[in-house]
Amino acid sequence: MPPIPDPYTPGEVPRVLIGREIELQRVRDRVSRVATFGEMGGPLLVFHAPRGVGKTSLLRTAQQQAAAVGCVCAWVACTRKLPFLPELAHATDRALVSAGVVAEEPVRRRWRERLDRVSIEVGPPGVRVKGEIALDPDAPPPAPDRAPIGALEDLLHDAATLARGEHGAGLILFLDELHAASADDLGVLLNAIQNLSGERERHPVAVVAAGLPVTPEAITRAATFGERSDFAALDLLSDEDARALLTAPAETLEIGWSADALELVTDECRGHPYLLQLLGSATWRAASPEAGDILTAEHVRAGVPAAQSQLDAMYRARWGVASPAERGFIRAMADLGDDNVGRAAIAARLGTDSRALSVPRESLIEKGVIEPVGHGLVRFTLPGFAEFVRHRAPA
Ligand SMILES: Nc1ncnc2c1ncn2[C@@H]1O[C@H](COP(=O)(O)OP(=O)(O)OP(=O)(O)O)[C@@H](O)[C@H]1O
Ligand SMILES: [Mg+2]
Repeated sequence: MPPIPDPYTPGEVPRVLIGREIELQRVRDRVSRVATFGEMGGPLLVFHAPRGVGKTSLLRTAQQQAAAVGCVCAWVACTRKLPFLPELAHATDRALVSAGVVAEEPVRRRWRERLDRVSIEVGPPGVRVKGEIALDPDAPPPAPDRAPIGALEDLLHDAATLARGEHGAGLILFLDELHAASADDLGVLLNAIQNLSGERERHPVAVVAAGLPVTPEAITRAATFGERSDFAALDLLSDEDARALLTAPAETLEIGWSADALELVTDECRGHPYLLQLLGSATWRAASPEAGDILTAEHVRAGVPAAQSQLDAMYRARWGVASPAERGFIRAMADLGDDNVGRAAIAARLGTDSRALSVPRESLIEKGVIEPVGHGLVRFTLPGFAEFVRHRAPA
């Protein structure tokens, strides 16, 4: 019999999303307001967590659920390289086109015109054309920086109305990696959402986002009222969920896990979804199980080198993108142990003033290498990184 293919998904959306029922329910509440009442689904909802904790997986699952109740879903992954508002306009267009709601004239022509106008307004700052192309030559031009906000409001209103149409539910925007959006673009988005919520019954749309733990701060910096967005931290998985992450994909293929194998993996991964998927996958590959087999602690141990070499590649990538000042900070942190580390201890270790650490600290948080854990303490976001830095980081 050919071996059963590995059901684990390190680095991809999981086959079974474990333990995010409360978060999914929060999105479903938004989606129901849009679908049932045809109104706006509340303020921006933002999930935040370090790398690998499951933001994209959560958003993708929520997207499937929203699509299943008839919503048109647009998806944007923000990057530092591209201005995000034009991406948002394109993604919305793609979603409407594939839902077939802008196929017929004259709707098609009107939507293209709206899109063209918006694309000009929300182009990259500097290239941005200020002021909407006036349809009425006598109308006064809108104030310059209001233009992209108004353009985005019009786009979202039109797209949401088209998505709802006669029989549809509405429009849901999913924005992943929101921390990477520029402050300018973020400000426009927040203002547009705020303005639309003033007449929420006219706009069947909701916006759900995810980003690194710096996202709430970036949002509040982009617009003070941004702090009234809904923020939800995504936690690591509980022990029970960690075990379910391992057993659920195997069970459907009639493969079991022994209790000590489960314990070994869950102790090692401490609730980190990516690590659990990685070690689950490595164990599976080491065992090449057939239906009815049990994965054992031996299989886990046999899989560790493959998982370790994948992890080393990730550690190396994080180390590789760090500047000299950031590496100094990382090294000092690693030398202080595997636990949470305070700013004063790092400063003492480097023989410098703790204020001098602000820049590397902020940039490492923004890169997702470290995260604040309260009381001025930070920790590495990927378990095992401190050990890597102490023993295996290139000089
Ligand atoms: N709730 C979950 N159940 C099962 N697997 C999960 C869950 N959450 C995440 N994973 C797995 O963990 C890994 C990381 O998930 P994901 O890519 O969603 O994280 P992320 O927070 O978006 O990370 P990044 O910040 O790097 O984009 C993936 O391999 C995914 O399969
Ligand atoms: Mg992601």
